[in-house]
Amino acid sequence: MRVRVNAASPFARKVRIVARETGLAERIEEIETTVSPIAPNKELAGANPLVKIPALLLDDGTTLYDSRVICEYLDAAAGGRLFSQGEARWPALRLQALCDGILDAAVLTRYEVAVRPEASRWNEWIAGQRLKIDGGLSALDEAQPGFGASFGIGQIGAACVLGYLDFRFPEIDWRARHPRLKDWFAQVLARPSVRDTTPRA
Ligand code: BEZ
Repeated sequence: MRVRVNAASPFARKVRIVARETGLAERIEEIETTVSPIAPNKELAGANPLVKIPALLLDDGTTLYDSRVICEYLDAAAGGRLFSQGEARWPALRLQALCDGILDAAVLTRYEVAVRPEASRWNEWIAGQRLKIDGGLSALDEAQPGFGASFGIGQIGAACVLGYLDFRFPEIDWRARHPRLKDWFAQVLARPSVRDTTPRA
């Protein structure tokens, strides 16, 4: 299998962590792929009509996207440990959705600030996204006591959220407002899957 990723992307990072946590990483070639919201990558468009990473290229020629589908596919291929079953599945999927929503707001803000010409920047829109990030972080903090020792799909999403905020938004001092998340993330940073996938430009 091959997977198109970008070392800065938190959504690609979810997949890269799942690949490592499931023991499948050695069977998956990671292809570093340049992405831009204004200059679509033609090669990527051939694999994913939405021109987004991550995109998993299966050996039979089909492609899977988005990160949620790829993560669940890899977990199922490895025996299914990272997605809870039964009643516990819904809180796990909701936690993943919460983290993906925070990441959507953060990545859109990143594009607004880094790609859009400064003269046409829309500060009210940026403030609206920031409210989603802050509200999402508060909900994540409330959920944290329920994490226990597990590192399933919801916790993987949380690690990607906090890592991306540190990487692109160091001015958001989430540790000061959420000491529980601070302590949890400090422990999670010791995991090889998380260390090996530290975001870089
Ligand atoms: C970033 O550079 O922050 C980024 C790159 C790819 C996807 C999402 C974010």
